[in-house]
Amino acid sequence: MKKVLITRKLLRSCEDKASKLFDANLNSNDELYSQNKLLKLSEGCDGILSSLTDKIDEETIKKLPDTIKIISNFAVGFGNIDVEAARKRNIAVTNTPDVLTDATAEIAMLLILGACRRANEGINWVKKENWKWSSDFLIGKQLTGSRLGILGMGRIGRAVAKLAKSFGMEIHYRNRSRLKPEIEEGAKFHESIKSLFSVSDVLSICCPATKETKDIINKDTLEYFPTGAIITNVARGDMIDDEAMVQALNSRKIYAIGLDVYKGEPRIHSEYLKQPTAFILPHLGSATKKTRTAMADLAIDNIDEYFRTGKCKNIIN
Ligand code: DGY
Repeated sequence: MKKVLITRKLLRSCEDKASKLFDANLNSNDELYSQNKLLKLSEGCDGILSSLTDKIDEETIKKLPDTIKIISNFAVGFGNIDVEAARKRNIAVTNTPDVLTDATAEIAMLLILGACRRANEGINWVKKENWKWSSDFLIGKQLTGSRLGILGMGRIGRAVAKLAKSFGMEIHYRNRSRLKPEIEEGAKFHESIKSLFSVSDVLSICCPATKETKDIINKDTLEYFPTGAIITNVARGDMIDDEAMVQALNSRKIYAIGLDVYKGEPRIHSEYLKQPTAFILPHLGSATKKTRTAMADLAIDNIDEYFRTGKCKNIIN
């Protein structure tokens, strides 16, 4: 039986499945392992089932025991792993695409709705127990008829487009390559982020975190947006220069933000917490029982398939 280190606690049914297939080293206290502890626990293991909270950088990969042949990440994003360093050591890295698309797109819509319709301010008023209805109380921005820019038209971006369309939004997008018309379904492709941002009444960030997308929302690119735009992010915090965003919120260039992910999370830039128009959530994108079960099952299946066949369809390096 292959020995697999599972770095974070999984839902019970998934841990049971892993224990049937492997000699699984579970983390029943759900402790956040340091890099040193992860290395120590990897001794004698054949694979690691990691999560987005494990920073498996080049240095860590170089020190992994030779027995490790696969790192199966329990996420679609894999910015936490140096995939190139893993490739150099012949360690396969896999992710969990598809199964979390719908759940993440739902949270993307929640961010758009929450930021546009001033949900955070509304909740704060309700908690104060002294609000009163009036014709101009917490007037927000209506989704119907407004332009949604989607940065990254992969599976999640396309699912967001579909949902947003049913709210009457007009869809614009920027992607590395233009989609085929039958997949585009009327969404308007933009050749540059400047062009996309300049028509985005609302932006939904759905692209992967890469060197190219790091801080793609910054002091200069924020200028491209229409005044009063709304920016939402369901992908990774790396894409936003937080200082520049806070300034844009303070100057009212940006009307509101909706965030589920943060640079250096679980830390959140303290200014976001003070912004009344910030609708912010603690990385809930894939957090449904159905999706988390499917993700963990897929992460387990990736390891199983790799050891049984020497191949795996979700290898990314
Ligand atoms: C992912 O899979 O990358 C998600 O962010 C997890 O919630």
